[in-house]
Amino acid sequence: MSSDAHPAPSEYRTGSDPRTLRDALGCFATGVTVVTCLDSGGRPVGLTANSFTSVSLDPPLLLVCVAKAAASAGPLTVAEHFAVNVLQTGQQPDSITFSTRVEDRFGRTEWACGEHGPPILRQSLSVFECARTAVHDGGDHWILVGEVKKASFEPGLDPLLYFRGSYRRLHFD
Ligand SMILES: Cc1cc2nc3c(=O)[nH]c(=O)nc-3n(C[C@H](O)[C@H](O)[C@H](O)COP(=O)(O)O)c2cc1C
Repeated sequence: MSSDAHPAPSEYRTGSDPRTLRDALGCFATGVTVVTCLDSGGRPVGLTANSFTSVSLDPPLLLVCVAKAAASAGPLTVAEHFAVNVLQTGQQPDSITFSTRVEDRFGRTEWACGEHGPPILRQSLSVFECARTAVHDGGDHWILVGEVKKASFEPGLDPLLYFRGSYRRLHFD
């Protein structure tokens, strides 16, 4: 390759362009979730997040990382309960809605409050209703840890996936 071709760098080191780090992290394929709660006024709040991770089975713990700059960060880090809605392929519009600045995110989807209060998006692949147990500092994100109080899932649906900055779907049978 000629030296003036300027190929995109594919290595990150401290001090490099953070875009390269994002691209490296984007090689980790994930599902997509919408994390929700009610704010102090009882209004539904939620954002798209793919930083969801299971943590522990006994006790049953999971985590999600929420940007400190996100409008949802305040409500999510103080709400007693939150929900993780794992999205299926038909919910790509929900993923877009909950990751962009739209007037009324919940006005564009069907939802209802779960047994423990937080909003549940209808037709989600799985839903985890959690009690907040910890909020750890994670740099420019909060690491929100919850104990699973209720989990439900739809066995027949395929997951919405995210890889290298694009939505994907499974192509195995
Ligand atoms: C696929 C995908 C995954 C995302 N994952 C996260 C995440 O894990 N944590 C986060 O804070 N933001 C994540 N975002 C960005 C937020 O959804 C986005 O910044 C949103 O507009 C924040 O809304 P808010 O400011 O109303 O809280 C993700 C966006 C997309 C499209």
